[in-house]
Parts: sequence; structure tokens; C-alpha cells
Amino acid sequence: MSVPVETIQRLVEGMNEQVVSWRRYLHERPELSFEEEKTAQFVFDTLKGFEGLELSRPTRTSVMARLMGPRPGKVLAVRADMDALPIQEENSFEFVSQNPGVMHACGHDGHTAMLLGTAKILTQLRDHIRGEVRFLFQHAEELSPGGAQEMVDAGVLDGVDAVIGQHLWAPIQVGTIAIKAGPFMAAPDTFDITILGRGGHAAHPNQTVDSIAIAAQVITNLQHIVSRYNDPIEPLVVSVTRVAAGTAYNVIPGSAHMAGTVRTFDEKLRQTVPELMERIVRGITEAHGADYEFKYEFGYRPVINDETVTNLVRESLLEVFGDDVVQTAVPVMGGEDFSAYQQHTPGTFFFVGAGNEEKGIVYPHHHPKFTVDEDALQIGVTAFVHTVFKILG
Ligand code: NI
Repeated sequence: MSVPVETIQRLVEGMNEQVVSWRRYLHERPELSFEEEKTAQFVFDTLKGFEGLELSRPTRTSVMARLMGPRPGKVLAVRADMDALPIQEENSFEFVSQNPGVMHACGHDGHTAMLLGTAKILTQLRDHIRGEVRFLFQHAEELSPGGAQEMVDAGVLDGVDAVIGQHLWAPIQVGTIAIKAGPFMAAPDTFDITILGRGGHAAHPNQTVDSIAIAAQVITNLQHIVSRYNDPIEPLVVSVTRVAAGTAYNVIPGSAHMAGTVRTFDEKLRQTVPELMERIVRGITEAHGADYEFKYEFGYRPVINDETVTNLVRESLLEVFGDDVVQTAVPVMGGEDFSAYQQHTPGTFFFVGAGNEEKGIVYPHHHPKFTVDEDALQIGVTAFVHTVFKILG
């Protein structure tokens, strides 16, 4: 049984103040990945106040809610992440973080609030639901190995036909939604390299094996993987993001440490990059009489959106918002553990614009002054509610 657009719109508008206040409540009380005890409890207690949900705790700091419609049908999972970041907030609004050094700097407070609002509205429309909606309030998106995989392992996707998720996205303006089938977000892998030279007096470099000079060559040469090995059409990032060595003006340190990230979409390229990196590190250190340690860690899989689910979601969004709002997304090199669900079940992930230059909402994700335009929350809730009916039919 379909629900008229106006009915949903009315319910979303009626819910909006509540959704905004949930977001602010959560913004004030951020918790780090895997430590979302109070957040999860708040979500659990709030959901308990809605009628007709079956609640459970798949892991210590996550929550699942199941809403069964009166008639059998497909099962759709809708996901929000709940964790914050180790950042000292520099915003000055009333509801800034009360937890020093921890901040909702990626919009997950908004995701949680939007999914609560979606759950509330759908419980009110339960009679119209065919099949089941499964709300996944996920912990630990920001910290590898991520909460999504744990939730999948706990069985949250058992019997699920499709999974959807959205991210409030400040780089695009509020009032827009960006969606795309295929590659959407990259695989974020990490590496650690230590150059093992031989320390000594800075005035006698000839008596040392200068780990810093060697590290500098390694950093420069790693870019050859991007510019000369990789097909220029294929997205690839190799970034050294941390360099640490030395303690004094007059000492050449015996070792230099580097760390960084590699971002890819293509699995074959992803598997090749560590070998290429190590070959460069080995060659340069060998040439200069040094040794090395090389560690490479594979992070989340890339977010690759399923064609069929994406098309359904896009259609649903176009029906409500029109093509001024719904745009084709440009893939980003950021990572998301939503991919763990997609390994198991066809799904799609999309961006809801949350930036607003006029309001000064211009800071990037993970910035101490990051925030979202709260007008985006309504758009996100509307998008979820409509899409649920579109997919469940
Ligand atoms: Ni995020």
C-alpha cells in the first residue's frame, strides 16, 4: 500500500523539531569509536518509546530495531553510524561538545537523529509496510576494523534483501542529494615504514647512514607509483601523512618513521600497491646501506553501489525531490565501512548535502569547526522514509 507523498511530508515536518533536538543532544555528548555506551543506551531507550519495534543489541555499543509490517515481503536494512572523533571542538554554538577532546566532526550525530526520526515515522505507518524494515544503529565507523563488520558477523543482515545508508555531506550544498551506482568511496589502507640507518654526529655525515635523507627519497619516490605506474584514468592516492625522526640540531638519527594512507577503488591495483611500495623502499634503502621495516594494513573495502538498489533509490528520490535536488555523485577517495554490509547484501550509499556557504557552514569533515546545516536532516529523513516504501513496494 503506497503512502501519499504529502502524508510523509507532513509526518517529517511534524518530526523535524524532535530530530534537530536529538541531533543537538548527541552533538553535546560525543563518544569515541567502540566506546558509544551512552549513545547506544540513549538510542535504545528512545526506540523503546516507539510502538511495535523489536529491539536488540548486536554488539556492546550498537542497537538494532526491527519493524515488521502486517504483510510478508522483503527485508530492508537502513543504517546510521553513531561514533565521534578525537578532536577538540572549536564551535561556539550552545550545544558544543561537553566531552573534552571528543567531537561529532563527521555528522554521525545527524545520522543517528535522522534514523531515529525515520524509525518513529515508519512505526506510525506500520500498517502500510510490506515486509520488514531493520534499523541498524552502528558503532565505530571511524576506527578500523570498524563496527559494520562486527554487526554483519553478529547476523544483522541475515535474511536482508537490501541495505541503504546516507552520509550528511558538507562539501555539497544543503538541498542536494548525490547518488551513483558503482564505485562511490575508496578503500582506505594504511602503511608504516621505518628506515633503519646508523646515527651519529651531524658534523660527520660520512660516518652515518642518514635515515632522514633516505626517508626523503622514499617519500618522493612513492609518488612514482601514482604518476608513472598507475593508469592515469584509475583513481589512486598515496600520501605520507606522518614523518618522525630526530631529536637535536647536531644529531643524525639512526631511524626515521613514516606513516600514511593509500586509497584505491580497483581491487587488483589495491593488491599491487604494497608490493610496489616495498620494492621502492627496499631499493632505496639498499642503495644507501640502510635497512627497513614495512607494514601495510588493508582497511575497509571500497563502497561500490549496487546497480539495481541504486536505481530504485534514485527513482524514489527523484519522485520526491526532482532532478534539481538529485544529482549524480562524484566518487570520493574517503573510506566508509558501509562497504562491509555491501560485501554481504546488495546496497547503496548516498550523500545528502549539508554545507551552506551563506550560513558559514563551510568546514570540511573532521575539522574542529565542522558542522552540518540542520535543514539537511529533514531531507535525509524524507529520503529514507520514501525509499523504504519504494524498495519494499
Ligand atoms: Ni563519517
